[in-house]
Amino acid sequence: MSTIDEIIGRTDPNDIDAILAMTNTDQDEVIHAVEDNADAIYTWDYEKGARPQLSKLYEKAKVGQWNGETDLPWEISVDQQQLATEAYELMGGMDTMIDFTGTGIEHWGRDEWIEFNMESQNWSLSQFMHGEQGALVCTAKIVETVPWIDAKYYAATQVVDEARHVEVFSKYLDTKLTGTYPINVHLRMLLDDIIQDARWDMTYLGMQIMVEGLALAAFGLTYQQTTDPLLKQLLRYVMSDEARHVAFGVLSLKEAYADMTQAELLERQEFAFEAAVRMRDRFLQQEVWERMGADVARVIPAVFHNPQRQEFQHLLFTKIVPNCKKLGLLDAGDGWLRRKFGEIGVIQYEDWVDTLAEVDSFALTNELEAEAAGV
Ligand SMILES: [Fe+2]
Ligand SMILES: [Fe+2]
Repeated sequence: MSTIDEIIGRTDPNDIDAILAMTNTDQDEVIHAVEDNADAIYTWDYEKGARPQLSKLYEKAKVGQWNGETDLPWEISVDQQQLATEAYELMGGMDTMIDFTGTGIEHWGRDEWIEFNMESQNWSLSQFMHGEQGALVCTAKIVETVPWIDAKYYAATQVVDEARHVEVFSKYLDTKLTGTYPINVHLRMLLDDIIQDARWDMTYLGMQIMVEGLALAAFGLTYQQTTDPLLKQLLRYVMSDEARHVAFGVLSLKEAYADMTQAELLERQEFAFEAAVRMRDRFLQQEVWERMGADVARVIPAVFHNPQRQEFQHLLFTKIVPNCKKLGLLDAGDGWLRRKFGEIGVIQYEDWVDTLAEVDSFALTNELEAEAAGV
């Protein structure tokens, strides 16, 4: 078994100084290269439908396609300042929930919190965009490395989906918002680890189960909160694809894990935990506080330890935990991952619906039929 230090690069997952000490070193580079350490695999077994559920998902993907340029109402003009102001009027600043005394930002008022709302949105959408490119690259790797023809077919549709997702988030940032952010270091470290791993099932676990499971929950929360009809529709369309992607991961890994030893499963549990910690760390959005001129070493501990804030962040794990349970990862061996998810406060979602069970509820069919009927 690996030590926690070997898995996440620090002994205590909650060591804030260690979290904040991690920074991107190549922020100004346009290109970021990563070794992908894998053989490209051909299969001469072309029997379509040998894995009926994957084959069915592939058919759903073919009819679930949409066009990022023509299916979204880009003509809607977005007044980000106005929306951020309305959000402030409704909810107040983060200081209604967190005591910032002694952090240097206790004097922040209406203007600062409205600006914070805007920066926070620029940051979130930027990270969504970078994560989508991670999915694009990882899934292209799955096309190469997975040995099953039905999975190669399905993954090929996901590559197109992810290109469309990068495209629409990038266009939304460029044409509707007021700034972008480089990739967050914790997200980048996670994407690097996923792509570097030689084992094809690890790409699925890191991307389809962990990153996309979190994305599905995060898009859902943003979908509920946003009052911009363009962003709402964009997220609705992206989520219809993401649910399929997560279901693709669950289906493929269920089969792959069935033949694994306890020792092999423990490595998967450790990787899932590493991914969970990296994603939790990224949501501290330290770059936003920096851009706002705040002293992160004083502000972030107050945010990190706030119970309401923690509760909100835990909601991001509502898809990951049930899917890990469905895969048998929570309780494999002596239940190592169950204990770890307990320690980071997310195990309570284990009995929420898994994505295989709910994938059809995300389909666009209802909207498209209504549109065709002129409703
Ligand atoms: Fe995506
Ligand atoms: Fe995806």
